[in-house]
Amino acid sequence: MRKDKILIIGAAGQIGSELTIALRKQYGAAQVFATDIKMAGDDIVQGGPFQILDVMNDKMLIHFIIRHKITQIYHLAAVLSGNAEKLPIQAWNINMDSLLNILEIARMVDHIKKVFWPSSIAVFGPTTQKKNTPQLSVMEPTTVYGIAKLAGERWCEYYHHKYGIDVRSVRYPGLISYKTEAGGGTTDYAVEIYFEALQEEYYECFIKKDTAMPFLFMSDAIDATLKLMETPEHQLSIHSSYNIGGYSHTPEDFYNNIKKHIPSFRIDYNPDFRQAIAASWPDSIDDQLSRRDWGYDPKCKLEEMTKIMLRQIKKQLKQ
Ligand code: SER
Repeated sequence: MRKDKILIIGAAGQIGSELTIALRKQYGAAQVFATDIKMAGDDIVQGGPFQILDVMNDKMLIHFIIRHKITQIYHLAAVLSGNAEKLPIQAWNINMDSLLNILEIARMVDHIKKVFWPSSIAVFGPTTQKKNTPQLSVMEPTTVYGIAKLAGERWCEYYHHKYGIDVRSVRYPGLISYKTEAGGGTTDYAVEIYFEALQEEYYECFIKKDTAMPFLFMSDAIDATLKLMETPEHQLSIHSSYNIGGYSHTPEDFYNNIKKHIPSFRIDYNPDFRQAIAASWPDSIDDQLSRRDWGYDPKCKLEEMTKIMLRQIKKQLKQ
């Protein structure tokens, strides 16, 4: 049996920097080719093959994929919601063209068996049911990031139905991690708050204190991604993108939780343009199809997550 060879695009990013390590453990370091447009951390660069690669350059991409006989692609590179609002057309071009490059290559190159591409809760908008948002909902996203993710989902399903491409996707909620910061997202406050609590004992939050959004700790997000990708294709009923929930929290929840560990921690709320984005996204997500089809089962709740975040960031700050 031929061994899988995996290409990760965006290996230096928030998800990529952790998913690369997990995939190398599972498949063997030599089988997992990490790539990014920028340099990745030492553990990624030294822990297996790493190359600078621009997903927008379809010729280089196809050359790389054929030369290394890639069988699975994880395409994680994207401009996130906040940054996308600053340069909407550029963000649309990057987020859409990169996905279309991958889907076209998957259609043309026989040895590509599976593709993973992340969608987001940003596909929903202000007219969507906010609480326990169903898999099938009204979808009128108001951000360019959300519009591109929704269009991307439609393309994924199109390539699946029309060409039989096995492309899989989840709608990630806000992801919380200590290793690599996200950069430019709306849910990023929930990462920044931990760093600032430890460094400054103060955080100025750009989201209102009572705006709820769903969040997931990175270890659960990685587990979910691996689980979905390992599931036999015939068990999957969704070929656009699966809802995955997590735990719904407001900035005040994070603040109160951190304060238990750092009593002197203070917060001010000074909402900026990202407040309108946050307000347009769901409070909580109905993910019963993910649980049924491929056993989605997140574990890390806020209390536990706060302990891990504070412990790990403290360690990093000492280095
Ligand atoms: N977490 C992302 C963002 O805030 C959404 O997928 O942009």
